[in-house]
Order: sequence, then C-alpha cells, then structure tokens
Amino acid sequence: MKILAIESSCDETAAALVEDGRRILRNEVVSQIPIHERYGGVVPEIASRCHIEAIEPLVERTLQGELPDAVAVTYAPGLIGALLVGVNYAKSLAFTLGVPLIPVHHLRGHVASNYLSHPDLKPPFTALIASGGHSHIVHVKSYTEYEILGKTRDDAAGEAFDKSARILNLGYPGGPKIQKAAETGNPDAIVFPQVHFKDAPYDFSFSGVKTAVVNYAHTAKQRGEEINAPDLAASFTKAVCSVLTEKSVLAAKNTTHRLVLAGGVSANRNLREMMQKECERNGVELYLPRPDLCGDNAAMIASQGYYEYLAGNTAKTDLNAYATMPVDQPIW
Ligand code: KG4
Ligand code: ZN
Repeated sequence: MKILAIESSCDETAAALVEDGRRILRNEVVSQIPIHERYGGVVPEIASRCHIEAIEPLVERTLQGELPDAVAVTYAPGLIGALLVGVNYAKSLAFTLGVPLIPVHHLRGHVASNYLSHPDLKPPFTALIASGGHSHIVHVKSYTEYEILGKTRDDAAGEAFDKSARILNLGYPGGPKIQKAAETGNPDAIVFPQVHFKDAPYDFSFSGVKTAVVNYAHTAKQRGEEINAPDLAASFTKAVCSVLTEKSVLAAKNTTHRLVLAGGVSANRNLREMMQKECERNGVELYLPRPDLCGDNAAMIASQGYYEYLAGNTAKTDLNAYATMPVDQPIW
C-alpha cells in the first residue's frame, strides 16, 4: 500500500510517498528556515503563506504521476494556520482520488521515523520524544496505543536550545547552532540546573536552565565580560542532555528495556552519545532515528499513517486541524 503523506505543522512543507509504512519511495521537504531566520524564529502567518505556495508543486514532485492508495496528513499538534494548509489540501486530494484520508498525530509521526530507520523495530518500546514544542517519555504499547509516562511541566527541550542560541546570537533554529558551538567547549565550565521531581521521576522542567542561561549572559554583560559561547553551549548541552538521558533510560529500564529516540532534538550528537553509553550501562536496547529523519518530514507521517490505517483510524472530509492534542488519546 502506497501512502502519500503531507506535513505542514511548522516551518517545513513536506510530502512523501511510502510503501507499507516502511519503504520510502520519495521524501521531499521545502524548508522555510531562510525566511524565518530573519526574525529569529517562526512567524506563524508567514509560515501559512509559504505552505500555500509550496504545497502544490511539492506534491506533484512527490507523486511523479503515481496515484497513492491513501492520503495521510498531520492534523495536530502545531501552528493552526500551517496545519490547516496541509489538512485542506489532503482532504481535497483524498476526496478527488476517492482514497482513504488518514489523520496523523505529529509526535506519533516522529516516533515512526524509527520504523523507517530500523526495519525490524516493532512496539512495545519506550520512547523519548523531544521536539521544539514537546518533551515526552511514552510507553508505545502498540503502533497506535500510547501511554504517557512523563512530560515537561514547562518548556520543551528544543525550546531551551532555541532560546539559548538566541541569547548567544547564534541564530535560528538553535539546536544545530548550539551543537556546533559546543564542539570546542568545556561541558564542566558552568554548572546549570538539572531538575528532578521526587513524585514524578519521568517529568521534565527546562525553564530553570533556560533562565539560568539568560541570567548568566546578563551578569556577564553587566560586568563587561565576554561570554565564552563554546563553554556555555557545552555546559548547557550537558545539563539538558543529562536529564533527558537519565529519565528516559530509567523509564525504559523499568518498562520495556528498549528505548527509541524521536523528534528534532534526537539529532543532537551529544545526546546520542550519552544515550548510547547509558543504555549500554543499563542493559537497554537503543534505537536512534536516521539523522535525516529526526527533523520534520512527511515520510514519518506516511509510516505512522499506514499503522493508523490498519487500526481503522481514517477521517472524513470534515477533518479539522488542532493546535494541541494529547499523543495518547488523539481525536478528530
Ligand atoms: O521535531 P522538530 O523538527 O520540530 C517540532 O516538531 O518542533 O524539532 C525542532 C527542534 C528545535 O527546537 C531545534 O532547535 C531542535 O529540534 N533541534 C536540535 C538539533 N536539531 C534540531 N536540538 C539539539 N541539537 C540538534 N542538533
Ligand atoms: Zn516535529
């Protein structure tokens, strides 16, 4: 079964054609980063307009004249105006072709990037989903049954990366810039907070580390001191990646003994190395998504779409888009 998927939840317009949830036939992405870079972050109204301009030629390039057996689309969560472009396009296309329409939760899509990276991977497993807007530890019981074990109580990990990069004037998106700066830095130069909750071992909080970076930069400025960007980036990375690693490895150890990483932050080299070491030490099997599938793409939406379809999760032409939606109980 060949599924065409459309993804437009944030600043990337993406389309892909994937066979049986596992084989990528085509995977196309039009990135808006050069446009939003000027503003230091995503401007939602501009994002919607860019999606409208990009989507038609992108889908044509992806299909290359082939007709899909179904159309999958990211319908939540994300920027509402951006999501609506993809959802409306997918609805019209599925209706015109007379094929099923499959709504896909964006974070479930991120998890599915691992089905494309590891042909033998099947649930159950434990997953860390760390993106620009979310940081979750979930128990993936089956392809379509999720249980949330923990999540962030304030900011997402990716958000902390983006904010810290902005403070250091490194540009947007912050994750890759912080990673680059951290390469030559000393991770023990500055001690940033690592938050743990007694009653909720799998919950995160990143607002403290974000504020600590802001305060550090302000203090340095007031004293007229130059900030050592590599040291700050490396120390910040250590603080964030340590908690992500500790909590998710612990969760995996206490549940499935298999840990899957997902979301934009899973591209981080330091995080991947730390996870590898901790998983080895704790007898947890680790699955990392292919680096090119860590960020937003439509192949992952097609992959998850296949399993949603098998579970009977299809939608009609009254499908709506939602800015927020729980990953464990998505509705449409
Ligand atoms: O999953 P994603 O591409 O989009 C959302 O669904 O949000 O995640 C984007 C987030 C951004 O915050 C970005 O800074 C972060 O992922 N990111 C990284 C890296 N690459 C992207 N964070 C740390 N290290 C990276 N190499
Ligand atoms: Zn994403």
